Amino acid sequence: MAVASLRTHLIEELTDLLDAENQLTRALPKMAAAATTKTLKSAFEKHLQETRGQINRLNKALRHLGERPRRRTCEGMQGLLAEGESVMKKTPEGALRDAVMITSAQKVEHYEMASYGTARTYAQVLGEPDVARLLDQNLKEEKAADGKLTAIAERSVNHDAAEEWQSRPEDEGKLIRGAVWLGGAVGSASRELGRAARRAAGINGCRRRSRRTPSQRT
Ligand SMILES: [Fe+2]
Repeated sequence: MAVASLRTHLIEELTDLLDAENQLTRALPKMAAAATTKTLKSAFEKHLQETRGQINRLNKALRHLGERPRRRTCEGMQGLLAEGESVMKKTPEGALRDAVMITSAQKVEHYEMASYGTARTYAQVLGEPDVARLLDQNLKEEKAADGKLTAIAERSVNHDAAEEWQSRPEDEGKLIRGAVWLGGAVGSASRELGRAARRAAGINGCRRRSRRTPSQRT
Protein backbone atom coordinates (compact mmCIF):
# COMPACT_ATOMS: atom_id res chain seq x y z
CA MET A 1 0.00 0.00 0.00
CA ALA A 2 1.44 3.39 -1.00
CA VAL A 3 1.68 5.94 1.80
CA ALA A 4 -0.66 8.51 0.31
CA SER A 5 -1.97 10.06 3.52
CA LEU A 6 -1.52 10.12 7.29
CA ARG A 7 -4.45 7.70 7.54
CA THR A 8 -2.71 5.25 5.18
CA HIS A 9 0.49 5.64 7.22
CA LEU A 10 -1.44 4.91 10.43
CA ILE A 11 -2.92 1.74 8.90
CA GLU A 12 0.53 0.64 7.75
CA GLU A 13 1.95 1.24 11.20
CA LEU A 14 -0.82 -0.76 12.87
CA THR A 15 -0.32 -3.60 10.37
CA ASP A 16 3.38 -3.52 11.16
CA LEU A 17 2.71 -3.53 14.92
CA LEU A 18 0.34 -6.47 14.55
CA ASP A 19 3.11 -8.56 13.06
CA ALA A 20 5.64 -7.20 15.59
CA GLU A 21 3.42 -8.36 18.46
CA ASN A 22 2.87 -11.75 16.84
CA GLN A 23 6.62 -12.23 16.49
CA LEU A 24 6.97 -11.32 20.16
CA THR A 25 4.47 -13.98 21.24
CA ARG A 26 6.85 -16.54 19.71
CA ALA A 27 9.97 -15.03 21.30
CA LEU A 28 8.76 -14.40 24.86
CA PRO A 29 8.23 -18.07 25.83
CA LYS A 30 11.84 -18.80 24.78
CA MET A 31 13.06 -15.84 26.83
CA ALA A 32 11.02 -16.92 29.87
CA ALA A 33 12.43 -20.47 29.56
CA ALA A 34 16.00 -19.13 29.33
CA ALA A 35 15.68 -16.75 32.32
CA THR A 36 17.26 -17.72 35.64
CA THR A 37 15.97 -14.86 37.82
CA LYS A 38 12.43 -15.72 38.91
CA THR A 39 11.11 -12.16 38.69
CA LEU A 40 12.44 -11.87 35.14
CA LYS A 41 10.88 -15.17 34.12
CA SER A 42 7.49 -14.07 35.49
CA ALA A 43 7.87 -10.61 33.87
CA PHE A 44 8.32 -12.29 30.46
CA GLU A 45 5.36 -14.59 31.11
CA LYS A 46 3.16 -11.68 32.18
CA HIS A 47 4.17 -9.66 29.13
CA LEU A 48 3.25 -12.59 26.92
CA GLN A 49 -0.32 -12.39 28.27
CA GLU A 50 -0.34 -8.62 27.77
CA THR A 51 0.98 -9.02 24.22
CA ARG A 52 -1.96 -11.27 23.35
CA GLY A 53 -4.31 -8.55 24.64
CA GLN A 54 -2.41 -5.96 22.59
CA ILE A 55 -2.94 -8.04 19.44
CA ASN A 56 -6.70 -7.99 20.15
CA ARG A 57 -6.65 -4.20 20.53
CA LEU A 58 -4.69 -3.79 17.27
CA ASN A 59 -7.20 -5.96 15.42
CA LYS A 60 -10.02 -3.86 16.90
CA ALA A 61 -8.26 -0.61 15.93
CA LEU A 62 -7.79 -1.79 12.33
CA ARG A 63 -11.41 -2.92 12.06
CA HIS A 64 -12.50 0.44 13.50
CA LEU A 65 -10.60 2.13 10.65
CA GLY A 66 -12.45 -0.08 8.18
CA GLU A 67 -9.44 -2.30 7.46
CA ARG A 68 -9.28 -6.07 7.47
CA PRO A 69 -6.22 -7.02 9.54
CA ARG A 70 -3.58 -8.47 7.22
CA ARG A 71 -0.12 -9.86 7.78
CA ARG A 72 3.09 -8.19 6.78
CA THR A 73 6.52 -8.83 8.23
CA CYS A 74 7.74 -6.17 10.64
CA GLU A 75 11.40 -6.07 9.71
CA GLY A 76 12.29 -3.85 12.67
CA MET A 77 11.06 -6.40 15.20
CA GLN A 78 12.52 -9.26 13.17
CA GLY A 79 15.96 -7.62 13.35
CA LEU A 80 15.72 -6.83 17.07
CA LEU A 81 14.63 -10.35 17.96
CA ALA A 82 17.23 -12.03 15.71
CA GLU A 83 19.99 -9.92 17.24
CA GLY A 84 18.74 -10.62 20.77
CA GLU A 85 18.52 -14.38 20.17
CA SER A 86 22.00 -14.48 18.66
CA VAL A 87 23.59 -12.80 21.70
CA MET A 88 21.47 -14.89 24.10
CA LYS A 89 22.70 -18.14 22.51
CA LYS A 90 26.32 -17.06 22.93
CA THR A 91 25.90 -16.29 26.65
CA PRO A 92 26.11 -18.94 29.38
CA GLU A 93 23.05 -19.48 31.56
CA GLY A 94 22.77 -17.28 34.65
CA ALA A 95 22.57 -13.62 35.65
CA LEU A 96 24.71 -12.51 32.71
CA ARG A 97 22.30 -14.11 30.22
CA ASP A 98 19.43 -12.49 32.13
CA ALA A 99 21.13 -9.10 31.71
CA VAL A 100 21.61 -9.81 27.99
CA MET A 101 17.89 -10.65 27.64
CA ILE A 102 16.88 -7.50 29.53
CA THR A 103 18.95 -5.48 27.04
CA SER A 104 17.11 -7.10 24.11
CA ALA A 105 13.70 -6.84 25.74
CA GLN A 106 14.17 -3.15 26.55
CA LYS A 107 15.21 -2.44 22.94
CA VAL A 108 11.98 -4.15 21.86
CA GLU A 109 9.91 -2.17 24.39
CA HIS A 110 11.37 1.13 23.22
CA TYR A 111 10.69 0.24 19.59
CA GLU A 112 7.08 -0.50 20.51
CA MET A 113 6.75 2.61 22.66
CA ALA A 114 7.89 4.78 19.74
CA SER A 115 5.47 2.99 17.40
CA TYR A 116 2.44 3.16 19.72
CA GLY A 117 3.19 6.75 20.77
CA THR A 118 3.30 8.06 17.20
CA ALA A 119 0.36 5.93 16.02
CA ARG A 120 -1.80 7.10 18.96
CA THR A 121 -1.03 10.74 18.12
CA TYR A 122 -1.89 10.18 14.44
CA ALA A 123 -5.21 8.63 15.50
CA GLN A 124 -5.95 11.69 17.68
CA VAL A 125 -5.07 14.11 14.86
CA LEU A 126 -7.23 12.13 12.42
CA GLY A 127 -10.25 12.34 14.76
CA GLU A 128 -10.23 8.65 15.77
CA PRO A 129 -10.47 8.80 19.59
CA ASP A 130 -11.48 5.13 19.96
CA VAL A 131 -8.41 4.00 18.02
CA ALA A 132 -6.24 6.44 20.00
CA ARG A 133 -7.58 5.00 23.28
CA LEU A 134 -6.78 1.41 22.24
CA LEU A 135 -3.25 2.40 21.24
CA ASP A 136 -2.77 4.37 24.42
CA GLN A 137 -3.63 1.26 26.47
CA ASN A 138 -0.95 -0.69 24.62
CA LEU A 139 1.54 2.16 25.07
CA LYS A 140 0.91 2.22 28.83
CA GLU A 141 1.51 -1.54 29.07
CA GLU A 142 4.78 -1.23 27.13
CA LYS A 143 5.98 1.57 29.40
CA ALA A 144 5.09 -0.45 32.51
CA ALA A 145 6.88 -3.53 31.12
CA ASP A 146 9.96 -1.43 30.38
CA GLY A 147 9.90 0.03 33.90
CA LYS A 148 9.59 -3.44 35.42
CA LEU A 149 12.65 -4.64 33.45
CA THR A 150 14.64 -1.66 34.69
CA ALA A 151 13.63 -2.43 38.29
CA ILE A 152 14.59 -6.12 37.96
CA ALA A 153 17.94 -5.17 36.42
CA GLU A 154 18.74 -2.60 39.08
CA ARG A 155 17.49 -4.68 42.01
CA SER A 156 19.54 -7.80 41.32
CA VAL A 157 20.46 -8.87 37.77
CA ASN A 158 23.07 -6.21 36.95
CA HIS A 159 24.90 -6.73 40.23
CA ASP A 160 24.71 -10.53 39.98
CA ALA A 161 25.96 -10.44 36.38
CA ALA A 162 28.91 -8.24 37.39
CA GLU A 163 29.83 -10.64 40.21
CA GLU A 164 29.23 -13.85 38.27
CA TRP A 165 32.67 -14.05 36.62
CA GLN A 166 34.21 -14.80 40.02
CA SER A 167 32.76 -18.28 39.96
CA ARG A 168 33.30 -18.87 36.22
CA PRO A 169 35.57 -21.84 35.51
CA GLU A 170 36.67 -20.83 31.99
CA ASP A 171 40.10 -19.53 31.13
CA GLU A 172 38.63 -16.09 30.67
CA GLY A 173 37.48 -16.10 34.29
CA LYS A 174 40.93 -17.25 35.44
CA LEU A 175 42.64 -14.50 33.46
CA ILE A 176 40.34 -11.84 34.92
CA ARG A 177 40.77 -13.25 38.42
CA GLY A 178 44.57 -13.23 37.95
CA ALA A 179 44.53 -9.63 36.75
CA VAL A 180 42.40 -8.55 39.69
CA TRP A 181 44.61 -10.46 42.16
CA LEU A 182 47.69 -8.77 40.68
CA GLY A 183 45.99 -5.37 40.93
CA GLY A 184 45.05 -6.12 44.55
CA ALA A 185 48.60 -7.25 45.40
CA VAL A 186 50.09 -4.10 43.87
CA GLY A 187 47.54 -1.99 45.72
CA SER A 188 48.30 -3.75 48.99
CA ALA A 189 52.08 -3.33 48.55
CA SER A 190 51.54 0.32 47.74
CA ARG A 191 49.39 0.79 50.88
CA GLU A 192 52.04 -0.95 53.00
CA LEU A 193 54.72 1.35 51.55
CA GLY A 194 52.54 4.34 52.38
CA ARG A 195 52.09 3.13 55.97
CA ALA A 196 55.85 2.62 56.32
CA ALA A 197 56.50 6.13 54.97
CA ARG A 198 53.96 7.59 57.41
CA ARG A 199 55.55 5.65 60.29
CA ALA A 200 58.98 6.98 59.31
CA ALA A 201 57.60 10.52 59.09
CA GLY A 202 55.95 10.05 62.49
CA ILE A 203 59.24 8.96 64.06
CA ASN A 204 61.02 12.01 62.62
CA GLY A 205 58.23 14.21 63.93
CA CYS A 206 58.71 12.73 67.43
CA ARG A 207 62.43 13.36 67.20
CA ARG A 208 61.81 16.93 66.17
CA ARG A 209 59.37 17.36 69.05
CA SER A 210 61.83 15.76 71.46
CA ARG A 211 64.34 18.48 70.62
CA ARG A 212 61.96 21.08 72.03
CA THR A 213 62.51 22.42 75.56
CA PRO A 214 60.03 21.38 78.26
CA SER A 215 58.58 24.91 78.24
CA GLN A 216 57.95 24.70 74.48
CA ARG A 217 56.02 21.46 74.94
CA THR A 218 53.49 23.01 77.38
FE1 LIG B 1 3.78 -5.16 22.83
